[in-house]
Amino acid sequence: MATAHDDAPMHLQAARNGSVADHVARPIMRVENVDVYYGDFRAVTDVNLAFGLNEITALIGPSGCGKSTLLRSLNRMNDLIEGARVEGEILFHGENIYGKGVDPIEVRRRIGMVFQKPNPFPKSIYDNIAYGPRVTGMKVESMDDLVEESLTRAALWDEVKDKLKQSAIGLSGGQQQRLCIARAISVRPDVILMDEPCASLDPIATMRIEDLMQELRKQYTIVIVTHNMQQAARVADRTAFFTAQVSEGSGARTGVLVEYGTTTQIFEDPTDQRTEDYISGRFG
Ligand SMILES: Nc1ncnc2c1ncn2[C@@H]1O[C@H](COP(=O)(O)OP(=O)(O)O)[C@@H](O)[C@H]1O
Ligand SMILES: [Mg+2]
Repeated sequence: MATAHDDAPMHLQAARNGSVADHVARPIMRVENVDVYYGDFRAVTDVNLAFGLNEITALIGPSGCGKSTLLRSLNRMNDLIEGARVEGEILFHGENIYGKGVDPIEVRRRIGMVFQKPNPFPKSIYDNIAYGPRVTGMKVESMDDLVEESLTRAALWDEVKDKLKQSAIGLSGGQQQRLCIARAISVRPDVILMDEPCASLDPIATMRIEDLMQELRKQYTIVIVTHNMQQAARVADRTAFFTAQVSEGSGARTGVLVEYGTTTQIFEDPTDQRTEDYISGRFG
């Protein structure tokens, strides 16, 4: 299990006020009263969370409870989905990323994303990494150095250093996912969002990504959606458990944050019966 920060008194306090969002040391991002809609459908409601600098936070919960929806709202990826709308505030270094005059491209550069299925561009390994810095007009002294540094940080350099000009499509699934992580890193983000990054990988490739995450957290803040509870328990400092609440009138299902705490607390001492049912496998 990841080194949980010693904040037992805080989580007891949190149990009383229902949220640990205020107790995250050094928060780099805050989610405040966030609702996410697709047209009239409210997919997620009333989320309050904070992500600690250089921590790994896992978002868990049954399918359809809005984990991906919330994750995409953290770097304005939902802007690209027709009808999607975010209410509330998402503060990054204290600034609302949905505020007037904020450039969504810059938001996505500083808050990168890695998807469920590795999605390398049909280009060379080198050009996959160089693409982001080029299109964002980043000042780069040596592109070769930046490509090497990004691939090294993503634990892929040794495997690809002799074939940088070959197509990324020829890499294995696990290598492709590490390439996508290297691509996210190349534009020097602060935060990396990962949406079930190991869902399509075998156990060995999964383990490599989990090891890599432990390295990356020294430099970046990571938010990971995972449906694999063991994975959350292994990698995350903090865990947020979501569920879908069914409205009595319309029967609509809306995602809500049930409980947020250190991973140890969520798995060993949940305060909400719904969390306990989920982690003990009685539901979901
Ligand atoms: N692009 C979309 N348009 C409309 N509804 C969507 C879209 N994406 C997701 N939803 C709906 O939002 C809810 C939450 O979905 P999602 O965020 O994918 O959940 P999870 O990642 O927890 O499985 C679901 O009811 C889903 O059908
Ligand atoms: Mg999802």
